[in-house]
Amino acid sequence: MQHTLKHAPYERHVHFRRGNMTKAVAPYTARQCWGGVIMPNTAPHILTPEDAVEYRDFIISITGKNFTPFMVGYLTAVTSPEEVKRGYKAGLWSAMKVYPRAAGGHGTTNAEDGINMLELANHPALPIMQEIGMPLLIHPEVNVDKNGVETDEFDREKLCVAVLRNLRRRFKRLKISAEHGTSVELAKFMERYGDPETMVCTVTTQHLMHDRNDLLRGGFQPHLRCYPIMKRRESRDAWRALTTSGAPFVGAGTDSAPHPTHAKERARGCAGGVFTAHAMVPLYTQVFDEMNSLEYLDNFLGVNGLSFLGLEPKLAEIVLTKQPWTMDKMIPVAHGDKVRPYGFHEDPDERFQFQWSIDSISCDQ
Ligand code: NCD
Ligand code: ZN
Repeated sequence: MQHTLKHAPYERHVHFRRGNMTKAVAPYTARQCWGGVIMPNTAPHILTPEDAVEYRDFIISITGKNFTPFMVGYLTAVTSPEEVKRGYKAGLWSAMKVYPRAAGGHGTTNAEDGINMLELANHPALPIMQEIGMPLLIHPEVNVDKNGVETDEFDREKLCVAVLRNLRRRFKRLKISAEHGTSVELAKFMERYGDPETMVCTVTTQHLMHDRNDLLRGGFQPHLRCYPIMKRRESRDAWRALTTSGAPFVGAGTDSAPHPTHAKERARGCAGGVFTAHAMVPLYTQVFDEMNSLEYLDNFLGVNGLSFLGLEPKLAEIVLTKQPWTMDKMIPVAHGDKVRPYGFHEDPDERFQFQWSIDSISCDQ
């Protein structure tokens, strides 16, 4: 069985890190996508337009010019509106990303400079972003309540729906992207308020494929640990239904987030993030196939959300074949560090069977 895509896939949310890690992981995305939204929670973060340019040039030095990174700034409590605007007008960065600040460090990777989500609507950059049409990408979780008390992790996304609703009311034209949706509550919010120009969302492969039982099956599974945490089966199914319904405001953002094995496979502490970049197109295709919705896959991968970002989709011919394969190796980084890619296991019998593979790609440049 074959399926052909008419547009080149676009990655709406990916972590490339810096240095040797970028060298190890970026080529996997660049092989499948013509561009991608590169997350700014690097160490150090992308805090200024000049940081973004330097990072963009480094990425292109690895991927080559056929991959176009979409550069994003890290919005902190002290980011100045003038700086945001200056970088946008000069084409140095194209969107801002906001992370929720966590209580006592119990949040996502490098989010210590994030914002208290309950105060986001008062950030002085928002009116200017609305005015200039610059997208705000939101990690939609509320980690601390109004009394400063840590929230239950499984409720954090649900609690952020009120924040999104309030933002929508206060800034009617602000371009908002709710990243990596996981909960039934956010899926319902998107069904109601989703709009291809002003209110979009992304969804990862792991949240379409797994629920929290998988995270805890036979013990804690560190390689399925990511932020937001996996939810109930009902939530997974709500996102499978919304994603494969053809909704034009839902797009493919893997949130592929590499961490060396020593940061994930350890007794105390587990870095959040799943590395799926090597299998982006195969995994999403598998979900759409399982949902008998392959007719909507092309838009999901290569069209949805592009106009929101101010981009034009790119025509291509990509032939996908239903031909099972397994990932048979770890990804070497440097100095002995390795990333365990989704689906790899030392025991060949335990490896995940990817159902679809990319047969050929030809893309208009
Ligand atoms: C991401 C990372 O490791 O940078 N981790 C994750 O679990 N998703 C950060 C993020 O997007 O929250
Ligand atoms: Zn992310």
